[in-house]
Amino acid sequence: MKKILGAPANEHRLRALILGAAAGGGLPQWNCGCANCAEARLSGGRIRPQTQSSIAVSVDGINWAVLNASPDIRTQLQVNRQMHPNKVRDTPVRAVVLTNGDIDHIAGLLILREKQAFSVYATPAILEIISANRLFDALDRELVTFREIVPGQSFRPVDGIEMELFSVPGKVPLYMEGDEVDTRLIGDQTVGVEIRTQNSTMYYIPGCSKLTPELEVRLTGASVVMFDGTVYEDDEMARQGVGSKTGARMGHMSMSGPDGSIEKFKPIPVARKIFVHINNTNPVWDPESAARQHAESEGWEIGYDGMEILSTESERKQA
Ligand code: MLT
Ligand code: MN
Ligand code: ZN
Repeated sequence: MKKILGAPANEHRLRALILGAAAGGGLPQWNCGCANCAEARLSGGRIRPQTQSSIAVSVDGINWAVLNASPDIRTQLQVNRQMHPNKVRDTPVRAVVLTNGDIDHIAGLLILREKQAFSVYATPAILEIISANRLFDALDRELVTFREIVPGQSFRPVDGIEMELFSVPGKVPLYMEGDEVDTRLIGDQTVGVEIRTQNSTMYYIPGCSKLTPELEVRLTGASVVMFDGTVYEDDEMARQGVGSKTGARMGHMSMSGPDGSIEKFKPIPVARKIFVHINNTNPVWDPESAARQHAESEGWEIGYDGMEILSTESERKQA
């Protein structure tokens, strides 16, 4: 294969770049004065600001698929040099893959409206939200191709990478909630993404309300799992006086507790476990917190904006 000039040494390994590690609202959130948000506003403070939920993946470091289009995508494409145009009109972003219809995951599509060709891959339920909202007509359909993908179907959004969407327990977007909300709905409104190359498998699951036995089987032996790290404690928002909603009510399993992700992942062999979609109230943002020490002592890494993750090759899932 032709060597690409200037590409890093591990040029044909699957890599992920965290564009935004925070949950909806970001860190700091515009109207939040919680301890983390206040610290993140200090220059040189213990907590660095973080943008909203998105990653990019590539094998050649040149062509990228972006998973979730955050409202912060303009900044994210600016501060990560891998995402810069190489010609007068150009982008390394070949595809956008969506995992739910939440504002933090789809509003960024509106930022990508400047007559640029790329493809959007999403489930029927998520595409329905986009086609029902005329704002998204700002994306020129002659250039932006919307591709419907049902859970279980494989697709190839960018050279060298195959993906599959799979249902995970979750709920409809906040703005579509009715009086009764099923927060453990399994359908095509909330999905995770399996990201495969010949020799490694990564997972991106920024929203998940329960780790089901099917998920445990799927994740076994993965190189990397990037998982929903919204809250550390289910009721941390109420405790901090920023709202009454629990993590569970928002469709997110918490990190701590007997049913939390830290406990539930213990028996699952995964080479690297990385929390993403971390809410600004989550104490793990503070490097000196007991919560951070707890997560790290159980083998978890705390994702952050600009984090680069190179897959290992030996952890290939035995299908
Ligand atoms: C969530 O992840 O719970 C949503 O992004 C909440 C929201 O839309 O603000
Ligand atoms: Mn979210
Ligand atoms: Zn806050």
